[in-house]
Amino acid sequence: MNDLIDQIKYDHISMSKVLNLIEREIGMLADDQDPDYFLLVDSMRYMVNYSDTVHHVKEDAIFERLSEIAPEVDDVIQEIRQQHQSLALLSTQLYDIVDNASLGQIVSKESISRLGGEYVASLRRHMSIEEGNLLRKARECLSAEDMSLVEQQYADSRDPLLSNSLEKEYNKLYLALVD
Ligand SMILES: [Fe+2]
Ligand SMILES: [Fe+2]
Repeated sequence: MNDLIDQIKYDHISMSKVLNLIEREIGMLADDQDPDYFLLVDSMRYMVNYSDTVHHVKEDAIFERLSEIAPEVDDVIQEIRQQHQSLALLSTQLYDIVDNASLGQIVSKESISRLGGEYVASLRRHMSIEEGNLLRKARECLSAEDMSLVEQQYADSRDPLLSNSLEKEYNKLYLALVD
C-alpha cells in the first residue's frame, strides 16, 4: 500500500463489499425471511471497530490538513466530519439491534430494516462524496511532506499497539466476511 490515500481507497472497496452483504441480509426481512443475524453482527462489528475507529480517524487527519491548503473544499470537509459522527451513532444503534436479535431477544424487524437501509444509503453517499471530490483534491494538493505530517498526526492520535492490532484483526474479519 503506497500511501494513506491508497489505504483509504482500499478501505472503501472493503467497506462497499460489507455494505452489499448487510443490504442483502437486511433485504431478506422484506421477503419475510430471517437474515443471518450472526453475519450481521460480525459485519457491524467491522464497521464500528474498523470503519468508525480507524478509517474515519485517518480521513479526519488527511482532511484537516487539506482544509488548511484548499479552503475551497472546507464546507465539504465540515459536512464529512459531521457525517463521521452521525454514521458512528447509526452504526452503533444498528450493531446493538442486530446483536440483540442474534441473542434471541425480541426486536422490531421494521426498526432493523429502517436503520439498516438508512445506514447503507448514508455510508454509500458519504463514500461517494469522498471519492468524487475530496480524495482527488487531497491527491492533487497534498505534498509528500504534508502526507508524512498527516501520518505523524494520525500515529500520535492513536495507541500504536491498539491501532495495529485493530487493523490486523479487522482485516482478518473482513476476509472472513467476504471470502
Ligand atoms: Fe469518511
Ligand atoms: Fe471514507
